[in-house]
Amino acid sequence: MIDSLLKGEPAGIPLRLAESLNLRFSSGVWRIESRSGSIEGRELAILIIRLFAFPQTVEQAISQAEALGVSSELHREFYGLITEMLRFGILVSAQGSTSSLSKRRGSFDGADVHVRMLNDTARTFAFREAIKATVKTGDVVLDIGSGTGVLALFAAQAGAKKVYAIERSPVMASLARKFAERNGFADRIEVIEGNSTYVEVPEKADVVIAELIGNDPLSERLLPVLMDACQRHTIESPRLIPSKLLIYAIPVEVEESHFSSLDQLQNWRSAVCNLGLRVAPEWNSDSPAPTCDTWVLPQNSGGWRELSEPQELVSLDLRSIKSDMIATRRTMRFDRDGLFNAILICFSLEVAAGIAISTIPDAAARCNHWLVRIWRSPKQFSVSKGQRIEIDYSFDRTVHSQFHVRET
Ligand SMILES: C[S@@+](CC[C@H](N)C(=O)[O-])C[C@H]1O[C@@H](n2cnc3c(N)ncnc32)[C@H](O)[C@@H]1O
Repeated sequence: MIDSLLKGEPAGIPLRLAESLNLRFSSGVWRIESRSGSIEGRELAILIIRLFAFPQTVEQAISQAEALGVSSELHREFYGLITEMLRFGILVSAQGSTSSLSKRRGSFDGADVHVRMLNDTARTFAFREAIKATVKTGDVVLDIGSGTGVLALFAAQAGAKKVYAIERSPVMASLARKFAERNGFADRIEVIEGNSTYVEVPEKADVVIAELIGNDPLSERLLPVLMDACQRHTIESPRLIPSKLLIYAIPVEVEESHFSSLDQLQNWRSAVCNLGLRVAPEWNSDSPAPTCDTWVLPQNSGGWRELSEPQELVSLDLRSIKSDMIATRRTMRFDRDGLFNAILICFSLEVAAGIAISTIPDAAARCNHWLVRIWRSPKQFSVSKGQRIEIDYSFDRTVHSQFHVRET
């Protein structure tokens, strides 16, 4: 079974923990989560995580476990857990090329993230329609963050004379080149490998496509990248896809059991460190307090009470950005009574005039792949209909967006 999960690789190959895992502690139970699933943190699972912090074979791990007092009756459970962890991508093969697309998880080098984006047909079709409506025959187009090259292909299909597809991941750049060849556009799509803010582009573009929208919408550095591109690589006033980004906040009442207490988090933090694992970035030692935000698919986020309609935090016309930093103060009103303890952050993207994508829970497509953030307010308080609070929202290049709320 384990061998078949390793996709035909020889038995006895070393395994290791995957690079991108989340550790969540909630209601007294911890879970280790990968993109494809999660495992409850039973004692034996903790031991397995500890054993595979460094690459080793299953056999080596079993003999180490025996040395640590794990009895042979537990071998079956031990194997079962390893099998589950392999299935969910928590354990991965420690062998093979690091540039192998199918084995890389958690970064833009991995196939899974690009497949999820392509399968988000609301997103992909919206971009295709926007490109059809915007790109004119003979245009020069820049596709920044080209990934698989799908949007560059749409631009070439729409009649672009030349598309410069810039991609910083060498794995994806080479794949995008192959896709362009396979689809008969090798002469019109030129893939430039590198970060858009460092590379040179041979001619000025009429249109810029930049699908650099993260779960935290600005975290993929959309603003500095666009500012740089429009300064160095385009004609004056190029056409942009997407053209506008609106970020919304919805105050919500989330069941307390959904969040773990700060004490629990602190305990969990030392437990994780004792296992030789690295803690999540939010838990760095210089962070003032650990946060326990949750990220959810908005189409599945109906479990909590929304205390108002979505309220606009920021509206960005991407064609006229003046700064890559944002700091804004908004008054947020409550349309219902309730216990305010969190804010759901979502966005709406105008891809082109009349073509939009949304992660607002009521409007998100069933196939949407973006997660929305449930930001936990450090203070919770009862609110009544009509009441208002102030919210500061900021984004300063180096960190994810920051929030601060104040009762008025
Ligand atoms: C959200 S994905 C979009 C991929 C593709 N355009 C699509 O729509 O499916 C963003 C891609 O941009 C790349 N990327 C992000 N910032 C970049 C930059 N400044 N220069 C070049 N590539 C970048 C990432 O490696 C990733 O492949």
